[in-house]
Amino acid sequence: MTTIEVVQAGTETDAMKVEVILGPVDMIPRGEGRNFEHRGMLIAVLRSRSGGLFAVQATCPHRGGPLADGLVGGTILICPLHNWKFDLTTGAVLYGDCSITTYPARLDDNGHIRVTIDSP
Ligand code: FES
Repeated sequence: MTTIEVVQAGTETDAMKVEVILGPVDMIPRGEGRNFEHRGMLIAVLRSRSGGLFAVQATCPHRGGPLADGLVGGTILICPLHNWKFDLTTGAVLYGDCSITTYPARLDDNGHIRVTIDSP
């Protein structure tokens, strides 16, 4: 599992949220994920093969599986440890017993990943 330190904070979107800039999207090959750290908070960012961009909590709530190492197919993420399936757009469980937390993710005009998280 690779963790990338966030080097640039983003903008406050409101009193409770902050948009953080995680760096160039090219750091993540299509079909893969990477972990990013912002002020001690780990976020898994995943790209689908078609270029979709998603951000979720870094570890699976079941038994701590590293979700950045999961399999991405379209908008579905499969945990690498026990194959539970999650909808990357909502965090809803498709196979298993728990959901995951998702965060809004987008690309900016410079091709950088921006993720909105709760303000630390
Ligand atoms: S740790 Fe993810 S399904 Fe078990």
